[in-house]
Amino acid sequence: MSLAATSNSSQNTAGFSLKPSAQNPRLLELWFEQSLVDAFLKEVEKFPMQALEYKSMLRFRIAKVLNDLCDNRLQKLLVNTLADRRTGALLITPEGLNEVTQAEEMVKFSTAVAHLLGRSNFDAMSGQYYARFVVKNEDNSDSYLRQAHRVMELHNDGTFVEQDTDYVLMMKLDEQNMEGGNSLLLHLDDWEDLERFSADPMAHRQMRWSAPPSKKTSKDVFHPVFDIDRSGQPIMSYIDQFVQPKDDIEGNWLTDLSESLEGSNAIVSVPVPTGSFLLINNHFWLHGRDKFTAHQGLRRELMRQRGYFTHAKTLRNPTQ
Ligand SMILES: [Fe+2]
Repeated sequence: MSLAATSNSSQNTAGFSLKPSAQNPRLLELWFEQSLVDAFLKEVEKFPMQALEYKSMLRFRIAKVLNDLCDNRLQKLLVNTLADRRTGALLITPEGLNEVTQAEEMVKFSTAVAHLLGRSNFDAMSGQYYARFVVKNEDNSDSYLRQAHRVMELHNDGTFVEQDTDYVLMMKLDEQNMEGGNSLLLHLDDWEDLERFSADPMAHRQMRWSAPPSKKTSKDVFHPVFDIDRSGQPIMSYIDQFVQPKDDIEGNWLTDLSESLEGSNAIVSVPVPTGSFLLINNHFWLHGRDKFTAHQGLRRELMRQRGYFTHAKTLRNPTQ
């Protein structure tokens, strides 16, 4: 695989560095040194979380603070990486943020990164622009989001809402007594059966998508599993739990699709340490979660943001 954008295996600039991950060169690792993280947190101390929740303009202000501290180079790097079909995924680590007591600082830092790319959507589950949620040993929720001990299958986010969901940000705020549970990622161009499924007439059939009550969205939406981007390449909007096939033909085609995805040898398993976060292009990367080992003291806290790119000319189309 040729990755011109990352052929210099490591780029170093003031306060941050970028290199391909060991798991897959499409996934890049972006690391911020602690002095830069500390300088950022000091400058944004005057904006408590409540201010960022109430005044969305301030999320763009803290994004600017971070970009300024990075010699105005960070925004370009983020936009180029996320829009580029050959990469489109980052594992980001702000050094020094690794305890749950620093959760607010973690949310601020990741908010700044996200708002250099775009704007995070309203999250109906939390009523905020982000959602924090806990995974424990026992759970009785109505979806696999918070259930341990089982795989959460590969999917895209935003399949049952009408908002554009160009990016997904998933941050680890806490982890106790956890064994397993890596993030699972699959790039569409690494999937062995992309052509088989994306060229099938079923690929562009309108299907119905609806979510269980915890998602707090009552309206069904209709769209096909596959779309094509402006350069003619397939992209996906798919999740096994919330698609509602209308007949046996749709149901069996979707089950074949699911089995192919879950059986792919190209799935990347990524451990995300506390304080780190994944930021992926939601159109050509699928994500999921591996199962955990049971433990009475198991606790994991996560934070997510999903949103749209504001630099629309690069949206879904890195070649123009
Ligand atoms: Fe998801």
